[in-house]
Amino acid sequence: MTELTQEKEQEQSAVEFGQAMDDNNIGQKSLLRFLTCGSVDDGKSTLIGRLLYDSKLVAEDQLQSLKKDSKAHGTQHGELDLALLVDGLQAEREQGITIDVAYRYFSTLKRKFIVADTPGHEQYTRNMATGASTCDMAVILIDARKGVITQTKRHSCIVSMLGIKNVVLAVNKMDLVEYSEERYNEIVADYIEFAEKLDLNSIHPIPISALNGENVTTKSEELSWYEGPSLLAFLEIFDVPDKRASQALRYPVQWVNRPDLNFRGFSGTLTSGQVKVGDEIVVLPSGKESTVDRIVTYDGDLEEANPGQSVTLTLKDEIDISRGDVIAHKENRPCIAQQIEASLIWLSEEPLQIGRAYQLKAGHQTVIATVSRIDHKLDVNTLEEIEDKQLSTNDVGVCELNLSKPIVFDPYTNNLETGNFILIDRLTNGTVSAGLVKGADRRADNVHWQHMAVDKTARALAKGQKPCCLWFTGLSGSGKSTIANVLESKLHLGTHHTYLLDGDNVRHGLNRDLGFSDEDRTENIRRVAEAAKLMVDAGLIVMVSFISPFKADRRLARSLFDDGEFIEIHVDTPLDVCETRDIKGLYAKARAGEIKQFTGIDSAYEEPENAEIVLAGAETSPEDLADEVMNILRREQII
Ligand code: ADX
Repeated sequence: MTELTQEKEQEQSAVEFGQAMDDNNIGQKSLLRFLTCGSVDDGKSTLIGRLLYDSKLVAEDQLQSLKKDSKAHGTQHGELDLALLVDGLQAEREQGITIDVAYRYFSTLKRKFIVADTPGHEQYTRNMATGASTCDMAVILIDARKGVITQTKRHSCIVSMLGIKNVVLAVNKMDLVEYSEERYNEIVADYIEFAEKLDLNSIHPIPISALNGENVTTKSEELSWYEGPSLLAFLEIFDVPDKRASQALRYPVQWVNRPDLNFRGFSGTLTSGQVKVGDEIVVLPSGKESTVDRIVTYDGDLEEANPGQSVTLTLKDEIDISRGDVIAHKENRPCIAQQIEASLIWLSEEPLQIGRAYQLKAGHQTVIATVSRIDHKLDVNTLEEIEDKQLSTNDVGVCELNLSKPIVFDPYTNNLETGNFILIDRLTNGTVSAGLVKGADRRADNVHWQHMAVDKTARALAKGQKPCCLWFTGLSGSGKSTIANVLESKLHLGTHHTYLLDGDNVRHGLNRDLGFSDEDRTENIRRVAEAAKLMVDAGLIVMVSFISPFKADRRLARSLFDDGEFIEIHVDTPLDVCETRDIKGLYAKARAGEIKQFTGIDSAYEEPENAEIVLAGAETSPEDLADEVMNILRREQII
């Protein structure tokens, strides 16, 4: 499970918990989900602690342990340290900073609330982005002594990008600036000037002192010049309209429900719009059309379904639908594209690598994505576009992405739910970026597929063979090229039509401009994989002999081919054997420090886990290994 979905689940249970409380106690009340953001020491945890404490939601036993903890770990000289109520984790207490998103539930007579408490430390923007994706409003905390700082701007920028359009500017620690109205006005003016360039609907400034509980739940004497409501009073009355119902119908299919031959339904949760029995719909990306027959739920059929409802749709026609497809009304379709332009909020400690294959998850769709270009980065202080070739932790940039197959989406400004995605590093399984689709890549818009009268099948038929890509991977000196060479001779003798793409040779021409950095190797593999694909399309049996040290790159290469067309062959020769052979003398040079980033020495080789063929390069002769491959190709009826 990705971190984002984990968060969503966590949030969901908080909602349920909230509803359970509600049912038992106080009947129907609206729910406000808000996010708090601020820098370390802005007093965020104290503020939430204060909200919980003053709304009398702290149980007696919790209070006892709080008193104890305040003495041991508190920052208030043994007085009650409300931040400890929130900073529940031991590790956080010891570090003195909050490190994860925590969802807190509380309820007043008027409303129920879910607070996503996110960390304020610079490197933890990631968690903030995670928390923000589910909130209606953001409470941005400012330390009155410091005013509007880079963090405030960064957080506001991300909050706005993630679709939170209403901000409460909580100017905290007013007690430390003598409750100065002038200072407060100055901060508010600064913020408003900055925020003009953000696409916010509302900004509500409130002066507070979370520590003393001033203007948090009750009005403050000291701040009598401020005539507005306290923070809690404001949160209780603030109205957040649910836009989803008025948006176009989007129903992403989560699974195909087929309990027996008589029933075939498509289950999922309506993300926006409404669907009614009898509606004429289209299924994307296939473009097939039908009419809604039934809307089935556990509690019986419905006439119509609304956003957030989980249902199963059945259609009048038998059409092929699979997980990830999106159902929409015929006259109001989402976009489909394989090249997209998107804003990325880079979350990983590892910078973005151009050309590297990441997994992209958008709703229930999963594809492989590579970033082909960073268009520009956003300077979060000035909101200006700046040129940069790198995206590092916390950076926000607009990029072009190439996808392994088209995805169905809406520009995020139209529909956040169908316009957002995450990028996952397949090796670590960590979320490296949150993304927001701006639209189809405009350059790709004008490039179309040209129909060809003679296709791959026809070409292959003429050659009397099944085209495929035999991808040899292994360390330098493992024997890849030697084996591939022998193999090609054997295939050639058998009158097969072949070609051998060899790393050293291709690096003299097509890839002459590339070196051995991680980025260059990724591009090296991308290009040769595309070249191999063209050759397979031409009907050839193509051998590729490249070290191709990175799993993600090999996975990308595989994704270009049809099922069964890509055969990964790991020439598994141990490093010490390759080094002893040292046919080109390169290992000696690498050991002497004359060649940098040499695979196996100071650059990684990530071994394949699921190669179709593994050859024991140290034990068997190239001749016999080539025969081994020939036998497998015959057995698999490739030749
Ligand atoms: S890959 O890593 O990008 O797939 P590729 O197969 O194209 O590598 O090229 C590898 C060949 O380049 C090696 O067989 C070796 O002859 C040569 N070479 C030169 N420098 C390096 C290096 N730093 N690491 C690996 N191979 C290198």
